[in-house]
Amino acid sequence: MSERRRLKIAVLISGTGSNLKALIDAREAGRLDVDLCLVISNRAAAPGLEHARRAGIPVAVIDHHGAGEKGQDHAVAERLGVAGPDLVLLSGYMRIVRAPLVDLYRGRMINQHPSLLPKFKGLDTYRRVLEAGDAEHGASVHFVTAALDDGPVIAQVRVPVQAGDTPESLAARLAPREHALLLAVVELFAAGRVEMRNGDACIDGVPLRHPLDLETDAF
Ligand code: GRF
Repeated sequence: MSERRRLKIAVLISGTGSNLKALIDAREAGRLDVDLCLVISNRAAAPGLEHARRAGIPVAVIDHHGAGEKGQDHAVAERLGVAGPDLVLLSGYMRIVRAPLVDLYRGRMINQHPSLLPKFKGLDTYRRVLEAGDAEHGASVHFVTAALDDGPVIAQVRVPVQAGDTPESLAARLAPREHALLLAVVELFAAGRVEMRNGDACIDGVPLRHPLDLETDAF
């Protein structure tokens, strides 16, 4: 029987890279059998690049200065083309990814977003959740489509909003849960269990009626 090939993942970041670090740590601990084949940052100063370098993962810095946004996407596509990932993870990548890059990786590009999508697309979600008086917040992992934070959601994790929360305290509560969510979703991809079909996120070939919930759905 032939074994499934290890999933090759390219990760695009702009900043801290704590989610990238969670993947690296899980891989190094033998809890995640994937090949992190490339990390691209649009910022040379992104601290997350250090996590990648220390783990021996090839890195590239591709910004939009000079070449412009189209040129940046083009350069990203070229670099990805050389690395040949099965999955492209946007992990705190603070650039809008447009066609044709999105089309090139349709169904193979996912994004992490710190909200219970479709609520609070865009930036500054923690402050907006507190202002809205919501009782809970969370994070989502979704397929990337041409519209911002809009593709089919694969899975979510929820955390309570507590009295006296600030955007910082809420972010600190969510971060470890978001890392766990990411790992669980990457494991689904590594096992070949998730795909985008006809605009739906499908698990084991079945379209999801709701995003998977990390706490209540066994996945
Ligand atoms: C995460 O909260 C992710 O949802 C958002 O950016 C943050 C990235 O954090 N898109 P980090 O750089 O992995 O620490």
